[in-house]
Amino acid sequence: MNKEERLGFLIAISLVLLAIGGVVVFKDARLANNEDLSFAEDIKPLIIKRCAPCHTGSYRMLPNFIKYKKAFMYRSSIRERVWVLRTMPLSGKMEESERKTIKDWVDQGGKK
Ligand code: HEC
Repeated sequence: MNKEERLGFLIAISLVLLAIGGVVVFKDARLANNEDLSFAEDIKPLIIKRCAPCHTGSYRMLPNFIKYKKAFMYRSSIRERVWVLRTMPLSGKMEESERKTIKDWVDQGGKK
């Protein structure tokens, strides 16, 4: 490689690294900043994934969060158990980003 080729190569490498960095930062920003969450689109799928079968109607003594009305009614308790105390789900199996989605939904007022 001559000098100019080497410079071109360095610039190309830099651009690729910048692009990768940009994607990573963008993903982080989205995670940090869940905007406009709704029960139907964001929360219900999480309830089905993480809170079934216990809170989806199988056990009559437990609140059923598949219904918006119930989930909304229990929203502060859900936030407390999932985000603050972390005692739910019982198995502890839940991604940090999923916990944050629940918390953000409650903090945003629990939109339907
Ligand atoms: C394996 C079963 C199981 C799973 C999965 C589970 N829970 Fe629970 N949950 C329970 C049981 C049993 C109780 C009652 C005992 C207690 O309060 O700890 C409970 C209680 C609760 C309460 C308090 C209800 C009340 O009457 O005040 C909340 C809120 C809650 N769970 C939220 C969740 C959320 C949100 C998820 C999913 C992210 C989840 N749980 C997953 C079994 C489960």
